[in-house]
Amino acid sequence: MEAESTAMLDWMNALGDATRARLVRIIEQSEMTVADLCAVLQLPQSTVSRHLKILSDAGWVQARSEGTSRFYRLGLGDLDPSARRLWTLLRDKLAASRQAQNDDRRLATIVAERQTRSQAFFSSAAGQWDRMRRELFGDRFDLLALAALLDESWTVGDLGCGTGQVTTTLAPFVRRVIAVDSSRAMMQALRRRLNGSTNVEVRHGRLQALPIDDAELDAAVSCLVLHHLPDPPAVLAEAARVLRPGGRLLIVDMLRHDRQEYQQQMGHEWLGFEAAQMTPWLTDCGFEQVRILPLPPVPQVKGPPLFAATARKVADA
Ligand SMILES: C[S@@+](CC[C@H](N)C(=O)[O-])C[C@H]1O[C@@H](n2cnc3c(N)ncnc32)[C@H](O)[C@@H]1O
Repeated sequence: MEAESTAMLDWMNALGDATRARLVRIIEQSEMTVADLCAVLQLPQSTVSRHLKILSDAGWVQARSEGTSRFYRLGLGDLDPSARRLWTLLRDKLAASRQAQNDDRRLATIVAERQTRSQAFFSSAAGQWDRMRRELFGDRFDLLALAALLDESWTVGDLGCGTGQVTTTLAPFVRRVIAVDSSRAMMQALRRRLNGSTNVEVRHGRLQALPIDDAELDAAVSCLVLHHLPDPPAVLAEAARVLRPGGRLLIVDMLRHDRQEYQQQMGHEWLGFEAAQMTPWLTDCGFEQVRILPLPPVPQVKGPPLFAATARKVADA
């Protein structure tokens, strides 16, 4: 009890100064640097810093550093409920004062200036933003981050995983990835790429007889594999077997093309696929909600256009 009343007195002491109460009012409304606070309160830096230190020692203020800037905000969430009540009471009394209203006007100007700075950057950079974005962060970071939309409890199959591009993209975001391929050389390359991931199971096997139990997967991906397979519908039926009811399938492959040299060079069985032939293949094997979407062309690539086919295993199949 005594400790509580001592703490209460400390909070009151820290707040019990007109300048400090003004400071707290401002940083409750917006995170601020010392320079911003000097402008809003029209006080010298040494005064603002001294009062911030007292508030900070009593737990009223939280600070965070960002590069060379330091930002201050009211740490209301971390305060004892009695301290919060104390502040609410005082804030309501202060709000009507002329000084508080003038502080609020200057605060609004500072906040608007900040927004203008970022808007000015984007208006002048609009033409260059794509190049800057690529230089700063690369071409694929947003696509890689989209995997975070997957359900983190899922087990996902990468069917025909090759060297593991898809597997390693998915693994950080889901519970488990089961990566299947028939080529030992590809699987070795995948193992090297895994780099310590503990939630990837690499299984040797064929897509025609997957080494995966019935309904073991929540989702399955097969990227650039279907055109290698003599009987795609049989493989789609096998994918349906290993998906749970309602599980999701994603097939990425080439749209129909005429590069016959691929048959000799890479053993392609199919010169791509027509969207129209994919849909009945999928529905006949127990999939529904089929969507076939051509992927946007990527400049300066040599291969034919690609599509993404998505479908859901029928819930009562
Ligand atoms: C063109 S690679 C694509 C690899 C990977 N999915 C990717 O996107 O980079 C095709 C892969 O399918 C595998 N594959 C081909 N036929 C297969 C089959 N019947 N069963 C399992 N894997 C097969 C190959 O070994 C190869 O790794």
